[in-house]
Amino acid sequence: MPAGSSGPTSTPYSVDPIIRIQNLSKTFPGVKDVIAVQDVSAEVEKGEIFGLLGPNGAGKTTLIRILTTLIRPTSGHAFVGSYEVTKEPEKVRSIIGVCPQTGTLDPELTAWENLDFYGKLLGMEDHYRRKRIPELLAMIGLQNRAHFLVQTFSGGMKRKLEIVRAFIHRPLILFLDEPTIGLDPESRREVWEQVRTLKGEGTTIILTTHYMDEAEHLCDRVALMDMGKLIVLDTPDNLKKAMPEGDLIEMRTESVTEDLLTGVRSLSHVLNVQGSGNLVRISARDGSGTLPEIISVFEKNKKRIAAISIHSPSLEDVFIHFTGRRLSESSEGAVPQGGGQP
Ligand SMILES: Nc1ncnc2c1ncn2[C@@H]1O[C@H](COP(=O)(O)OP(=O)(O)OP(=O)(O)O)[C@@H](O)[C@H]1O
Ligand SMILES: [Mg+2]
Repeated sequence: MPAGSSGPTSTPYSVDPIIRIQNLSKTFPGVKDVIAVQDVSAEVEKGEIFGLLGPNGAGKTTLIRILTTLIRPTSGHAFVGSYEVTKEPEKVRSIIGVCPQTGTLDPELTAWENLDFYGKLLGMEDHYRRKRIPELLAMIGLQNRAHFLVQTFSGGMKRKLEIVRAFIHRPLILFLDEPTIGLDPESRREVWEQVRTLKGEGTTIILTTHYMDEAEHLCDRVALMDMGKLIVLDTPDNLKKAMPEGDLIEMRTESVTEDLLTGVRSLSHVLNVQGSGNLVRISARDGSGTLPEIISVFEKNKKRIAAISIHSPSLEDVFIHFTGRRLSESSEGAVPQGGGQP
């Protein structure tokens, strides 16, 4: 691990935590027990947008389900507001709003009716619902579609409606599970804007995502999760600063050999080299300046170069650094553990 990098032990604790998670674990018994959440500890600060970022099956939804009192942890404690989730679930539910991962709007009701029904379930008075619903519809630009059936809405319109529905009673804390999954880029940006507006009203927001750009651009702090564990928690900037210095260069070739890696490692500006399959990942000071030397090492080793990319570190790189694997499903398979394992 490079100097200055943070790990779970250096997790920054909040000045004013509104959520405290202490050694939380959840096991689903079965033929092969699944440890969905494993010894997670963290604190969420009042008023922040806190992101849980991780690949499919990382345990994000399970953690949200524990915090929103839908399931009980196997061990550990969680306090939402000042209430422990297993001891005072009704009190927890009175201060939170939840937008689950899968759509829960009734397509055969109108936008207004969906909000109204939900408000009634929460015990909101008639006059307050009548005042609140137009405000919420205006917030997402759907005031003219108030009396249209939800089944006639686009994916983005439905998601935005579902998010404001979770906010109908002005909860202190809003949980959004994959708020932008399956949305086009334009709708995703609109949802981000909506989430920022809700933060502007003083709401604390906890969202899950497996989109690194969402975590990077929207969240004040991000917890990286993988295989039930919280790997590291910090601001997106600090997470990237924990990376080895320099630019990241990826070279695709026919096959990686030890001689090739040794040759690249010997270059003066090269800080770190990892190779797997047909990919060599290099971190180097002055990436573009060092590139000609790297290319000549490939030539000396008679390795044809199929593709080159140079970029500054992203949260994807941070994830690879800490887990040795990629975050996105679409990318290559495993990259060998590169000394970044905490
Ligand atoms: N009710 C359940 N019974 C058994 N196993 C479960 C249950 N719920 C979740 N799991 C398992 O727990 C692990 C974590 O699942 P979880 O849904 O929390 O992941 P996730 O990070 O939200 O993933 P995704 O990005 O796909 O939504 C997975 O291995 C999943 O199969
Ligand atoms: Mg999930």
